[in-house]
Amino acid sequence: MLIIPKLVDTGKHSAIAVLTSGGDAPGMNAAIRAVVRYAISQGRQVFGVNKGYSGLLEGQITEMTQSSVANIIQRGGTILKTDRCLAFYKKAVRREAANILVRKGIGALVVIGGDGSFTGAHLMQTETGFPTIGVPGTIDNDIEGTDDTIGFDTAVNTAIDAIDRIRDTASSHDRIFLVEVMGRNSGFIALSTGIGGGAETIFVPEQKTSVSDVRKTIERGIRRGKSSSIIVVAEGPKPGLSQKLAKDLKKYGYDSKVCILGHTQRGGTPTAHDRMLASTLGASAVAYLLAGKSDAMVGVRHNQVALVPFKQVVGHHKKLSKDLLSLAQKLAT
Ligand code: F6P
Repeated sequence: MLIIPKLVDTGKHSAIAVLTSGGDAPGMNAAIRAVVRYAISQGRQVFGVNKGYSGLLEGQITEMTQSSVANIIQRGGTILKTDRCLAFYKKAVRREAANILVRKGIGALVVIGGDGSFTGAHLMQTETGFPTIGVPGTIDNDIEGTDDTIGFDTAVNTAIDAIDRIRDTASSHDRIFLVEVMGRNSGFIALSTGIGGGAETIFVPEQKTSVSDVRKTIERGIRRGKSSSIIVVAEGPKPGLSQKLAKDLKKYGYDSKVCILGHTQRGGTPTAHDRMLASTLGASAVAYLLAGKSDAMVGVRHNQVALVPFKQVVGHHKKLSKDLLSLAQKLAT
């Protein structure tokens, strides 16, 4: 079980702000709740920024109380709303954002999001000195420096639930299904979903798998009396991968059905795991800020809360475990 690190409150930051940025993830609300309630418990004022960095630039900042975050721990999405703010790539815009926060009397900013959001926070801090801290919130689990991200567990459970359902119909009709999951450039969702859902093959961007490999797996299954297969496909950077694979399989004489799970993986009630993770990381982020730490992400390493400097996080590529990839192959045959 994760625990909040014991840190000394330096008395810094009488007011802090929190925002969510990038793709939403189940558990973000639990993280917002933890930031707000923990900061208030430490005698601080808390402001919520609506709609990520875009809302910050528009001055959409309001004070939050304990009751602003009542009845949200079980809700997916983010009550603060979110967006992907392209303007934040500009230095002058980041400077303006820091000025807006300072003018409001806010001393530090908690950013709940992914790699892109942390890049913005890191640059804003290094360029202006305004303290920022990150809480990893993305279903992709692709952030370097943390073993886990808020929303990943829920997304994987959603995808596995879908696979269990698809398997019923696949076996009734003796069909091959290509189930496409999210993850953009990374295969963490696909790998966990594939192992947990007992997929015959898993396609991830990190490893080359050819259609001829898939054909061999299908044929090996047929020889063992299997009449249906589930193939998990990570969406990858370009859309249309599973349709292309279906076409290629057709060339070998295999018909298949494509099921794209898409944004269903982003919504829904967060799992107990994600609620606990979000509550611990949200509160820890505040504790680190009050201890005078910033320009870093609060993550999980070896089952412990860890503070990881942004410069070790942003722009780095988190590696998929080779051992898990090889386990997936062994279990699927
Ligand atoms: O980063 C989270 C994620 O859900 C990715 O898995 C996916 O590729 C992307 O966001 C989709 O983004 P959008 O909702 O903006 O289309």
